[in-house]
Amino acid sequence: MRILSIETSCDETAISIITADGDFPDATYEIIGDALFSQIALHAPYGGVFPSLAKREHAKAIVPLMIEALTEAELLVPGSHTSSPELTTSITATLEREPELAAAIADFMNAYNEPEIDLIAVTVGPGLEPALWVGVNFAKVLAEIWNKKVVAVNHMEGHVLASVYDVVEDNKLAQIGFPAIALLISGGHTELLLMKNWGQYEKIGQTRDDAVGEAFDKVARLLGLPYPGGPELSKLAGLGRKAALPPLKADLPRPMLKSGDLDFSFSGIKTAVRYALDGQELTDTDTQALARDFEDAVTEVLVKKSSDAVATHGAKSLIIGGGVSANQYIRTELNRHFLKEHPDCELYFPTPGLSTDNSIMIALAGHARANSASNPAAAKLFRAEGNRSIAST
Ligand code: KG4
Ligand code: ZN
Repeated sequence: MRILSIETSCDETAISIITADGDFPDATYEIIGDALFSQIALHAPYGGVFPSLAKREHAKAIVPLMIEALTEAELLVPGSHTSSPELTTSITATLEREPELAAAIADFMNAYNEPEIDLIAVTVGPGLEPALWVGVNFAKVLAEIWNKKVVAVNHMEGHVLASVYDVVEDNKLAQIGFPAIALLISGGHTELLLMKNWGQYEKIGQTRDDAVGEAFDKVARLLGLPYPGGPELSKLAGLGRKAALPPLKADLPRPMLKSGDLDFSFSGIKTAVRYALDGQELTDTDTQALARDFEDAVTEVLVKKSSDAVATHGAKSLIIGGGVSANQYIRTELNRHFLKEHPDCELYFPTPGLSTDNSIMIALAGHARANSASNPAAAKLFRAEGNRSIAST
């Protein structure tokens, strides 16, 4: 099965083509085409993602990226078997609010034959509404013209699967032990999920305010770092840790550490950093110390809550996913803690490059959903959160 996958939920436009040999979750995958455009530099002046700009940029980038991915996959065949005036009219009607995208698709259909793909997978949520709709409408038009099946994918399920995808060794999903806990930490989400099996997700904890990536980004901004500040802040924290700088703000809160549940709260840490900065000119070493103090506080909470979740549910695996899972210190501390406290629980982190948003993870989740007919109870949570009218599984 060849899957063309589309991701436009935030500030990355991405298209991949992967082949799946076998059924989920035992298939062997191959990434045959992968194209991604990050809008980060365009949003940086706004200090965050600007939804209408994101939408416009997705619409601009998506057809060229599809051409790039199909070219790499050697599936782009010149010709115009799929084009006709009626077709152009129909594309324009479906995309009446995106005339430039409609024109780009019509041009594509005039120039190229239908590629040999079997399935289209597209992120339908969660994410920024205007950004998501570009991908969804694009998928809809392609599916109509090529008469292909579309599967609606939940972005967070993509992050889960990216973390267990062994792209280095065997191109398969790891054979994880269940029950498993997924700790999803991204710019928009912080949540703990219980997975009793593949495709079964129960939310057992979540943030009550900011997501952890959002807290990283906001604190980075307070420290004068460019957007998205997470990785920058983490670099400074690393310098502060290496130099063993004395704490600048040793008493940063660890919100909800002892709340007895699996929920999180990060806005208090961010506010405490703001107070710590109030009226002060920080030296470079002060900034490094404060970044380190912040990273320590956040990490302590993430480790404790993950550990509690694993203990409560007797989990055999902990899957860490989402953009913040790229953070080296969080990885190290989770590994250290689990080796000591839960040595039988296996930890899974995404391969570098698959922690932040990408469309490879959307293809994996698309494959899971395409096969989910054999498991009708699968992913109730994700369907509720992410499904839209185009879902056809
Ligand atoms: O999953 P992702 O690419 O997008 C969302 O779905 O939100 O996550 C992006 C988030 C941003 O907040 C970014 O600052 C954060 O992940 N991030 C990091 C690191 N790398 C990315 N945060 C802390 N340390 C990092 N190394
Ligand atoms: Zn994400």
